[in-house]
Order: sequence, then C-alpha cells, then structure tokens
Amino acid sequence: MKTSKLFCFGHRGACGHAPENTLRSVRKALELGADGIEVDVHLVNGRLIVIHDDTLNRTTNGTGPVAEKSLDYLRLLDAGQGEHIPVLEEVFDLVNRRAIVNVELKGPETAAAVVQLVAEYVKTKGWRFEDFLVSSFDHAQIQTIKKLIPEIRTGVLVDKIPPDLAAYAEQLGAWSIHPNKRCVTPDLVAEAHRRRLKVFVFTINQPAEIAAMCRLGVDGVFTDYPVLIVTFNRAQDNIHP
Ligand code: G3P
Ligand code: MG
Repeated sequence: MKTSKLFCFGHRGACGHAPENTLRSVRKALELGADGIEVDVHLVNGRLIVIHDDTLNRTTNGTGPVAEKSLDYLRLLDAGQGEHIPVLEEVFDLVNRRAIVNVELKGPETAAAVVQLVAEYVKTKGWRFEDFLVSSFDHAQIQTIKKLIPEIRTGVLVDKIPPDLAAYAEQLGAWSIHPNKRCVTPDLVAEAHRRRLKVFVFTINQPAEIAAMCRLGVDGVFTDYPVLIVTFNRAQDNIHP
C-alpha cells in the first residue's frame, strides 16, 4: 500500500529547539532525524555566512548590516546560547552527508560562491550533487546556478503563486518549487508533479498543517520542529505497513 511520507527539512537547522542557523541547531535537526537541513546564507568578503537577516540585530549580540562587517568581527558574536555564526563549510562538515543540505541564497550575489563550494565538496570530499539543493526567492540567482553547474539541484521559493508557477520553474531548470503554505493548492501540486518538479512547503509547525500537506500530496515540508514530521511519518508507517 502507498505510504505518504513527507520529506523533512529542518528549518534554519531545528530553530524551534536551538538558535537558528547555528551549528547547535543543525546538530539538533540531525539528532531529531531530519532528512534535510535548510540554512540561509549571505556573502561577506568572499565567505558564505550562515544567517537569515541582512542585519545582525535580531539573532546576535551585534548590530548593523552583516555585509558591512569583517569576518573576524562576525565570528566573535554570540548567535544565541554561546553559539557563533557559522560559515557554510562548517555546516557541510557537520552534516557530513547525513542529510541533504538546502542552501537558501538570502544575500545578493551568493550564487557563484555557493557553486564553488559545492563543486569543491563534490570534487574533493566525496559528496554528490544530489546531496545539495540550492534555493532562493531571487530567481535570477537560480538561473546563475544552473548556468554555472547544471547538475546542481535548485528550488524556486515563492511567497505568492505567480500564474503558471510550475511551467516557470521548469523553464528555470529547477528541481523543486518551495511555496509558502498559504498558497499551495491541489492544482499547483498536480501541475508541478506533471512536470516532474518536487513540492516542498514552508513553514509547517502544526499537526493539522502536517496532515493537510500530506493530503495535498506534497513531497515534503520545512519545519522548525523536525520531531513532528518524523513522528508523523512513523505513524504513517503503522497505518500503511
Ligand atoms: O526555505 C524555506 C524558508 O526558509 C523560506 O523563508 O524567510 O524562513 O528563509 P525564510
Ligand atoms: Mg530560509
């Protein structure tokens, strides 16, 4: 019998349990059994910094725009519970292929640096391109990724559904679409699947939402609480052994 498991991306690591986008958060997501780890990146002096906002104020004890700081300054900040702001390779090394890493390009002009780092991990560290998924609301950056290395999987993030999203994502060469939960519909899921695109929805933190996403037939979700999805999937196993 068909089971309806949801691929579980830990959002900003497991940010319901630990300070977002820190190594502690990534470790927690892995411990809880997440299938994928989502983190956000900005570029600072050629280095990929793992942080969501373009300013430091909300998530660290620093202030001001991330892009205006030196790497040394950023590395001394507290990103919560004594955690530092990671660089992206620290996340890759911690995950060590135990989950997919979904790098969300948050900062401008992060695409080329991410491509370079992914290529290095594939070439020298035994990773495969399928171990990564690069997504962004900035679709020009998605195009840049595909131009540089077509084998890298990309995801098109959207807060509102434009007409023909699935066709548009296919044209961009995307592997998946990542819609906000407010705008996912049965038609969108069907059209995406017809075009062989995966559908991963953000951000799903309530049991009722999890069941609704399962009924819609989406492929997976982003969650602050990976334990909820892992538990849901186990229950599905029991219903459909
Ligand atoms: O990638 C899914 C989700 O992270 C997108 O929104 O603002 O949490 O980065 P945000
Ligand atoms: Mg994100």
